[in-house]
Amino acid sequence: MKIKNICCIGAGYVGGPTMAVIAHKCPDIKVTIVDINEQRIADWNNEDVSKLPIYEPGLADIVLSARGKNLFFSTDIEKAINEAEMIFISVNTPTKTYGVGKGMAADLKYIELCARQIAEVAKDDKIVVEKSTLPVRTAQAIKNILENTGNGVNFQILSNPEFLAEGTAIDDLLHPDRVLIGGDTDEAGQKAIGALVDVYANWISRDKILTTNVWSSELSKLTANAFLAQRVSSINAMSELCEKTGADVNEVAKAIGMDSRIGSKFLKSSVGFGGSCFQKDILNLVYIAKSYGLNEVADYWEQVIIMNDHQKRRFGANIVKTLYNTVSGKKIAFLGWAFKKDTNDTRESASIYVADDLLYEQANIAVYDPKVKEKAIYRDLNYLSTRTEEENKKGVTVHIDPYEACKDAHAIAVLTEWDEFKTYDWQKIYDNMKKPAFVFDGRNILDEGALRDIGFIFQGIGK
Ligand code: NAD
Ligand code: UGA
Repeated sequence: MKIKNICCIGAGYVGGPTMAVIAHKCPDIKVTIVDINEQRIADWNNEDVSKLPIYEPGLADIVLSARGKNLFFSTDIEKAINEAEMIFISVNTPTKTYGVGKGMAADLKYIELCARQIAEVAKDDKIVVEKSTLPVRTAQAIKNILENTGNGVNFQILSNPEFLAEGTAIDDLLHPDRVLIGGDTDEAGQKAIGALVDVYANWISRDKILTTNVWSSELSKLTANAFLAQRVSSINAMSELCEKTGADVNEVAKAIGMDSRIGSKFLKSSVGFGGSCFQKDILNLVYIAKSYGLNEVADYWEQVIIMNDHQKRRFGANIVKTLYNTVSGKKIAFLGWAFKKDTNDTRESASIYVADDLLYEQANIAVYDPKVKEKAIYRDLNYLSTRTEEENKKGVTVHIDPYEACKDAHAIAVLTEWDEFKTYDWQKIYDNMKKPAFVFDGRNILDEGALRDIGFIFQGIGK
């Protein structure tokens, strides 16, 4: 079966870039990305590609190459479902904020809504692809809904989790380590898998396209994120021990990373991992383990989150302690708000929690981030409901010039590893700060020796 028409429900960080790349690489396939969020669709259709809703290096060019030819962004969900032979579900699957499993389980209400809408609209056979990250065995629930509410047409359900990381999404999509496709083991299932393999084979060599059963595919996605986050928590745990013992976490990371069994990637000590997925997916894994009575398995993985929370907390606490046990009324400049460089995404960014702790200590925070908009910063803080919106407005100022953000500050905290921070005129920054001038490098990116020579009191992580 050759796919000619694809629909993707959800025009977010995953749906947008993944489908843009499919359209770019498969000119014979019409790809329509739909969303209930009208503003988001309007932004994807904006003539000025610098206004796309998502910032990713290389994304604008890919969108420009296909938009209006075989790539379309629309709010007409029913039409797109109807036309497509293959429907990707790429909606958000946040942690539940209510009811049973609150704070742990994945909230599948958006997934269920999609399944019901597909069932209602579909008039011919469809392949439904889980692109969102889902608890293992979700395909069963989707299948039940489709088969019991549909118009008697046949549905095949595939799991095709996405492994892209933000900031490198386009490169990850163009050159993935692997593509994973899970499906039913019977003939119809294998046929559906084959159809999706053929789509990816337009630009990815077939030996990198791995096929499994549905449950292995669903669980592999949660497992991959758990292992990646675990590495960050492991090196962060060591960073605290380094600080007590005179070891240097960068040296330790290099030393262990050269062991090919350990590998050198994902060993960067930091103020703590953020992003929309690591925490959510591990909590989800913990919840699943608990629901099967596997308490030791659940506790093992929960520790990754506990360590991460500790790392974020101790960064803020150290600023307060170092600034003579009070930051009340002091200006602290934040360089970076995004959860990592090269993205405008701030979800679960460590900066939010460090800011919250410092505001609790009555600090005045001045934020500069090259890609994050002021309204996102206030939205993140307001979402915590720790204080009123007016209080957040009063405690935090947002700047478009980093030198302004740092002017008259008592301390600078580096929260995101943006490359441009390394190129600043640090002498100029120093000259305009209150003395002693402190730098807390939560990403270990700045030149410690050079900053100390200028006169800064410098603290990195794990040194
Ligand atoms: P997102 O919030 O950026 O986008 C989801 C979009 O789905 C939103 O625009 C929302 O309006 C839309 N939506 C929700 N319900 C809908 C419905 N019923 N009909 C139409 N549109 C609907 O989320 P995201 O970051 O793209 O993540 C999507 C999924 O992919 C999640 O399960 C996530 O875990 C997974 N994932 C994310 C990343 C990442 O880097 N962000 C990477 C891999 C996997
Ligand atoms: C992560 C995974 O890397 C992707 O494979 C996965 O598809 C995605 O989650 C997802 O499921 O959403 P992402 O969250 O975009 O991607 O970014 P990462 O590069 O993994 O970084 C996550 C966080 O860990 C960031 O805050 C980053 O700064 C931090 N990190 C990462 C470290 O502190 N140290 C490291 O060595 C690596």
